[in-house]
Amino acid sequence: MTLWGGRFSQKLDDLAWALNSSLPVDQRMALQDVEGSIAWADAIHKAGILSDEEHASIALGLDTVRKEFASGEFVFQPSDEDIHTAVERRLSELIGVAAGKLHTGRSRNDQVATDFRLWMLQAIPELTSAFTNLQSALVEQAELAGETIMPGYTHLQRAQPILLGHWWLSHYWALKRDVERLNDLTKRVSVLPLGSGALAGAPFALDRNALAKNLGFAEVSQNSLDAVSDRDFAAEYLFVCSMASVHLSKLAEQIVLYTTAEFGFFELSDAFSTGSSLMPQKKNPDVFELTRGKAGTMIGLLTGLMSTLKGLPSTYDKDLQEDKAPVFQATDTLLSILPVMAAALQTLTVKADRMRSAIDSTMMATDLADYLVEKGVPFREAHSLAGKVVRAAGEGKVRMEELPLEAYQVISPVFEADVYQVFDPLESINKRNTVGGTSLQSVKNQIKKIKGE
Ligand code: ARG
Repeated sequence: MTLWGGRFSQKLDDLAWALNSSLPVDQRMALQDVEGSIAWADAIHKAGILSDEEHASIALGLDTVRKEFASGEFVFQPSDEDIHTAVERRLSELIGVAAGKLHTGRSRNDQVATDFRLWMLQAIPELTSAFTNLQSALVEQAELAGETIMPGYTHLQRAQPILLGHWWLSHYWALKRDVERLNDLTKRVSVLPLGSGALAGAPFALDRNALAKNLGFAEVSQNSLDAVSDRDFAAEYLFVCSMASVHLSKLAEQIVLYTTAEFGFFELSDAFSTGSSLMPQKKNPDVFELTRGKAGTMIGLLTGLMSTLKGLPSTYDKDLQEDKAPVFQATDTLLSILPVMAAALQTLTVKADRMRSAIDSTMMATDLADYLVEKGVPFREAHSLAGKVVRAAGEGKVRMEELPLEAYQVISPVFEADVYQVFDPLESINKRNTVGGTSLQSVKNQIKKIKGE
């Protein structure tokens, strides 16, 4: 059965049918389709289109269909073109001709947009909670890190010492923005298209506000032409997912790097490492490499949908059927990555000694300049003098703290015996005590803020 066919004298070619059918993808919106149909039946009953008996029969039938989906008993037929057809076909098997009245005033154009939005409204909290769990793992690690210090990098070159906790939390804040974006999107998803018909609106007195309320939408669309073709919410959702994946890939890349023998800052637990079929010694961070790799796929999903939407004439075009697969794939990808990342981070071992020994005193050269600044030397000059100390140490093949005081005083008489204090990395860290700095106090404040204390 198709929902159309009256004007056709030939049935659709089998291959064209297969191309056209969207059931493999949109059956995921089965419950939303039934829910939308129940609300629609309600609305057209109130508008006088359905008699009390017809309405009761449709509502009862749809409830059975819902139960069949929920229990997995629902049987799709080869003739089901899409989820909307499947639901209506089953309803007519259950209640007979009255089922034929359900679609009055409705089109699959406003129906599919409604189902899709309903689906996304339930996916957003699910994704949010997966993000929140990973964020908790990051905060947990930050708390465990205490005064553990590590080298901070710019250009992937050793720059300044930082607290490991500060590093963990840097990833927390990025994910927090992703979650905010995701939830901000809700207000644009929560707009009801149903009642827009195929493109021009519904031809009878319909209380769309009541319909929206019934389905849990915050608002009603204000232009039927826009409503049936608006897929901004899907593109935005894919952007949010892509941005989050980029953040995850950044974290993942560093885990990959920091678990190498060269860095050795972290060791993954066996449960989250993989081996090599050839090299018995290997312990690979596949989970994190996949996270990094999937960010590329994710960006592809976003650009794919954007390209599909570009230049489409109003209103509904079948191109729009391409909207759901990327959204489902992006969701599944994140839901598969996030819990694994959380567990892998919770179980990794921190090699504090390796991190500590990767800090050398040149990383405190800025502190050396700051030391001179505190003694009244302008920063530009202080920068140059500290640079000379770095050079003198390099030429003498000693560490900066091994240069005798006389060598310092040759460079500048401002240097005094207290200069050696600047080479304590924890001192350097704790001096950076402004809001958002790496000091222990600042990291504790971040955690407090995160926990809402
Ligand atoms: N399967 C379609 C989609 O996902 C449903 C809407 C079909 N509308 C139409 N006029 N053929 O977009």
